[in-house]
Amino acid sequence: MKYFIDTANVDEIKQASELGIIRGVTTNPSLIAKEGRKFEDVIEEIANIVDGPISAEVISLEAEGMIEEAEDLQKIHPNIVIKIPMTAEGIKATSILSKELIKVNVTLVFSVTQALAAAMAGAAYVSPFIGRLDDVGANGVALLEEIMWTFQRYDIKTEVIAASIRNKEHIVAAAAAGVDIATVPYKVLMDSLKHPLTDQGIEKFLKDWNK
Ligand code: E4P
Repeated sequence: MKYFIDTANVDEIKQASELGIIRGVTTNPSLIAKEGRKFEDVIEEIANIVDGPISAEVISLEAEGMIEEAEDLQKIHPNIVIKIPMTAEGIKATSILSKELIKVNVTLVFSVTQALAAAMAGAAYVSPFIGRLDDVGANGVALLEEIMWTFQRYDIKTEVIAASIRNKEHIVAAAAAGVDIATVPYKVLMDSLKHPLTDQGIEKFLKDWNK
């Protein structure tokens, strides 16, 4: 499993990137809006920090508009992956873009049938949102397991990105389900590096050393 970082904040991306464990970035319109900067500028800056897939999401709801946005986003940097919402229009756009060898990440996936449609349309990535399923009392991790089982059963090459990750336990469950990628918010990523016994151990080592 690889780590992507799920943020549009350039400082967070720089800091996470310095750890050397981030292989890509996912953004969405809400994350971009939080930055209060021009979309294209943010995406370009991110693409110059992380050498890996950078997901940038379209806002059109019709396939035609999605394709136009995708073509503009592609011009920013070759690593840009077009994030497209899981709708019938989104699937139509994904089929067309995939044939043009443009990489698509189908987002807002909440069921196996949605994941299958994305894969059949040729999406490079599919993003099931586990935290948002948990929020409504469903089981996000169970969905990951079902998608992984189905994709493995049919040898589907579309990579699965565990998205909407809220805590360390989600990372562990995503890894156990065998997903290709977990896209993790900065705070959760940093929290995942910590353990109270590590801190206590350092404190004791230093105390003993100074005696
Ligand atoms: C993924 O690509 C999305 O940007 C993200 O994981 C959504 O997470 P949220 O449900 O915490 O907003």
